[in-house]
Amino acid sequence: MTPADRLRQLRLPAFAAPMFLVSSPELVIASSRAGIVGSFPAPNLRTSAELGEWMRQIRAGLAEPATTPWPTAPWALNLVTHSTSLRLPTDLEQVAEHQPPIVITALGSPKPVIPTVHGYGGLVFADVISEDLARKAADAGVDGLVLVCSGAGGHTGELSPLVFVERVRRFFDGYIALAGAINTGEAMLAAQVLGADFAYLGTAFIPALESHASADYRQMLIDCTARDLMVTRAFTGARASMLVPSMQRMGLDPAEIEFKVAKFNFTGRQNEKVKPWTGIWGAGQGVGRVEQAEPAADIIDRLAREYDAARRRTAELCA
Ligand SMILES: Cc1cc2nc3c(=O)[nH]c(=O)nc-3n(C[C@H](O)[C@H](O)[C@H](O)COP(=O)(O)O)c2cc1C
Repeated sequence: MTPADRLRQLRLPAFAAPMFLVSSPELVIASSRAGIVGSFPAPNLRTSAELGEWMRQIRAGLAEPATTPWPTAPWALNLVTHSTSLRLPTDLEQVAEHQPPIVITALGSPKPVIPTVHGYGGLVFADVISEDLARKAADAGVDGLVLVCSGAGGHTGELSPLVFVERVRRFFDGYIALAGAINTGEAMLAAQVLGADFAYLGTAFIPALESHASADYRQMLIDCTARDLMVTRAFTGARASMLVPSMQRMGLDPAEIEFKVAKFNFTGRQNEKVKPWTGIWGAGQGVGRVEQAEPAADIIDRLAREYDAARRRTAELCA
């Protein structure tokens, strides 16, 4: 079965989005087993060899036939294609060996990965924050686009989803995954109503027990709402949506750093003073819906119940 066939059979039209230092092989496996696309970013590993190990683990974890009423969903690898990402050639060798069904590019052109991924029948999605970047990725020949909108966690977008999907659907008829503040089944259905094929959820899965988030990070998500977020370029140079209490916990004054701009560095790993993603934590506006730390399967069950109820209500509305 091709990745496209498998995407048609998802239990729910959703991706558990890749998250730096949060996604784990266990989270990918649990998400795909629960019927949505699981994913992780390559920079979670320090070397291409370690990346190969994670992919091997995921393939082994998903190799057994499903015992669920729905099929196991395909999984995705997220590759940073920014020019500062020197590891791309060796990461691509691992991709050719382990053949992730879907590769999602971010922070750069999808062009360098397309021949390898299409070569084994995989799908390429490009993560974009503007109509221009969406057009460039479409012209490069991607199969899908991830439209990152305002309210998204991590490196965030500025466009409203109400506008972004409509603009991109004018010139792109491939897959669209919509990202930004989606943490309910109702919002997932809304993404489809707008013209997207999938919802792309990050923040919803940080509290999953299989994630690599610390207990303090999970608790902060439970305690916070959207008003506790700040979008700033201070940490990585790109606009990132971060939790203000995590800054205060590190002794930083949010008012002082809000408008600072760091030199672009997508992980912030080289920055000695502030440590985005480890000490300063990211989240999107869906954070208010985080109520507890629980297995990914339970989060997906909750989303499935809400999605079904929303579909029933919508059917009544349309009747
Ligand atoms: C803590 C955190 C880390 C993230 N790291 C990455 C990453 O490494 N690569 C990437 O493409 N997107 C990353 N994202 C963005 C997500 O993949 C996704 O686009 C976003 O979380 C969707 O918005 P939501 O959090 O409101 O659901 C990250 C998001 C968060 C919250």
